Formats: sequence, C-alpha cells, structure tokens
Amino acid sequence: MSGITRYTFFVAAFCAVLVFGLNKPAQSESINALLATADVAAGQAVSAKCTGCHSFDKDGANKMGPNLWNVVNSSYAYKDGFKYSDALKSHNGKKKWSYSELDGFIASPKEHVPGNKMAMFSGIKDSKDRANLIAWLRMQADTPAALPAAK
Ligand code: HEC
Repeated sequence: MSGITRYTFFVAAFCAVLVFGLNKPAQSESINALLATADVAAGQAVSAKCTGCHSFDKDGANKMGPNLWNVVNSSYAYKDGFKYSDALKSHNGKKKWSYSELDGFIASPKEHVPGNKMAMFSGIKDSKDRANLIAWLRMQADTPAALPAAK
C-alpha cells in the first residue's frame, strides 16, 4: 500500500469504528453494568423527583401518574384503574418495563414513548442517577426482579 492509500484506509477504518460504536445500543448495556454497583439509598433520594406525581408503596394511590409498586418487569400501562394515554396503552401486554426500558423512559419520557402523558417531565440525564433510582425501584416489590447479568 502506498502511504496515501494506507492513510485513507486507516481513516476509513477509524470512521467505521466510530459510526458502529455510536450506533450500538449502549443504553441497555450501561444500565446492566451500572446496576451491579448501584446505590439503593442514593436512588431513594432521586425518587423525590417522582413523588409529586407517583406513589411507590404497596396499594398506594394513583396521583397524576400511576402508583409504581412492582413496576420492574410489569407490562406497560399495568395499573388497573389508572387512565393511561393511548400512547402507553397501545403497548399494554406487548412491552414490559425491563431495566433498559425504564432507563430509556426515565432518561427522556417524551422521546421514549411519543405522545405519553409524562412528557412534561424532562427526564433524568445522569445515567448513574437513573441506575441508582432503578435499583431502588426494583426493591419496591414483594419479590424484587432478578438483577441483569452485568457485562
Ligand atoms: C409531572 C408528573 C410526573 C413526574 C414528575 C413523573 N411522572 Fe411518571 N408518569 C406520569 C404520568 C401522567 C404517567 C402516565 C403516562 C401516560 O399515561 O401516558 C406516568 C407514567 C410512568 C410510568 C409508566 C407506568 C406504567 O404503568 O406503564 C413509569 C415507569 C414512570 N411514570 C416512572 C416515573 C419515574 C421513575 C419518575 C421520577 C424520575 C416519574 N415517573 C416522574 C407523571 C409523572
């Protein structure tokens, strides 16, 4: 290879790594890894951002948003007696609140489920805060869901 060809090749390879690297769903991988070292007590503090609209205790009342006891691994729109938007209801029985779904939704409710009624909440941008919060959310259940295998 001549010098210039080799240079072009490396630039192309570098760009490919960059493009494919950025395209992969980093979100679900990072939440799984972050959960392994998440701080449940710190997560409880983060939940203060939600309690204006949600209760988290068993049989807690719905507020502006549904009660979120046992949300991890439940279906989208899982609470009977709450009037969900069509946007969330349309996924009922099809999608569930896995760790990565929760992570995406809490990061940006509006982008994750366009047209949902939590869109006025701008989301939590710090991935560690979200992981701590989700680790705490997991505990708000009779039988906490299994933690994902951290890769
Ligand atoms: C300003 C009020 C508000 C705040 C703040 C808020 N939510 Fe919500 N949330 C809602 C509403 C309203 C819905 C129902 C959305 C719909 O029907 O489209 C909802 C729905 C949800 C759902 C889906 C539940 C289901 O049954 O499918 C989850 C999960 C959720 N919120 C988590 C959170 C978490 C975690 C926080 C804090 C980081 C939070 N929310 C903060 C209003 C809020």
